[in-house]
Amino acid sequence: MQSRMHPKYYLSQEIFDREQAKIFRKVWLFAGLASLVSENNSYLTRKIAGVPVVIQNFKGELKAFENICLHRSAPLQQGFCGRRALVCPYHAWSYDSSGAVRQIPDCDALYRFNDGERQSLKLREFALQQVGSLLFINLSSDPMPLETQFSDKFIKLLEDSSKQYDTEVMFTTWHASFNWKLVYENLRDLNHVRYIHPKSLGQALKFQKHASDIFIDEAAGPLTDLSPAGLRTEMRRFSQAGAEDAEYAQARHYAWMDMVEPWRGTDGYYNWLAYPNLHIASGTGGYSFSIENHVPVSPGKTDVEIYYFTAKKKQPYATSHQVLLSHMHYSKKVVGEDIAILEAVQSALHPDAPMPSQGAYETQNRLVERWYTTLMETGHEI
Ligand code: FES
Ligand SMILES: [Fe+2]
Repeated sequence: MQSRMHPKYYLSQEIFDREQAKIFRKVWLFAGLASLVSENNSYLTRKIAGVPVVIQNFKGELKAFENICLHRSAPLQQGFCGRRALVCPYHAWSYDSSGAVRQIPDCDALYRFNDGERQSLKLREFALQQVGSLLFINLSSDPMPLETQFSDKFIKLLEDSSKQYDTEVMFTTWHASFNWKLVYENLRDLNHVRYIHPKSLGQALKFQKHASDIFIDEAAGPLTDLSPAGLRTEMRRFSQAGAEDAEYAQARHYAWMDMVEPWRGTDGYYNWLAYPNLHIASGTGGYSFSIENHVPVSPGKTDVEIYYFTAKKKQPYATSHQVLLSHMHYSKKVVGEDIAILEAVQSALHPDAPMPSQGAYETQNRLVERWYTTLMETGHEI
């Protein structure tokens, strides 16, 4: 079967801009961990769909604003996260929890704003929603309900598991040279594990080889309901949660596992694939987790941001940071193997490259591609 993914979808700046407008500025996107903004005045900053965003804690209330001062456009907060009131570092304008300018030093002497001018100064606010320990943001002025984007089962599993996250987190970013879609396609293709990770993930876990028969015919035909509601319902199918059909080569138990309260505590590879750019995994049956966020930077560049943490500690222990470091080292190998092949794929692409072929086991990707190309090639909106 031929794929619908013409090479232009991975190469064109014009398509990239269309994706940002039609997908990334419309859907709920992972924005960070609530544990990083749990105290008054704590904040975190992100660039979401090209927009700088600050999430700020105002006496326990979390708000998301565009991180651009209304005076001379300085970022209000800087760095990945920290603790500081929402005050611009450039000329010290400060903002309140509604995004309004709270104070302008020497306003009358220097600026002479009238009341109307002053009242119109309000930061752009974005919808923010907390699911367990995870924060999601939506840049749309009319955001769809989170429950439209993700199924009830997905939200429930996410909420339930993330409440068990520990608050000690290790974070790293890979600046990778490939299009963001190559990652989601790779994550929905477990057949690569044997070949790309033979000495790492493929050693520990054996994923079952089979192709599901459901949806094969459906994925070959066109989408029928192109209304916003129909396209949103279709998108909900792309986010899945649960245990993969996989077997562990050997039972594993490490000393640190006795120090935490696992989410499930049984062997299993748990996976949360949230369209378009979030992947949470627990290869330890809920004893530890990683969050991967694939942030599109340009057609050929993606930042892969990864958080590592264990399940909640029973009590602090001296080597917990080493446990996280060893998770990071292991993941560096596995993620590095994925990044190497995906960068090679990207580097071979050119506008006349052959269209990819797909088999029955790639039906999930075919469904995503059908929806994606419909959105890109028509005026329909979600
Ligand atoms: S740029 Fe923010 S106060 Fe001047
Ligand atoms: Fe992989």
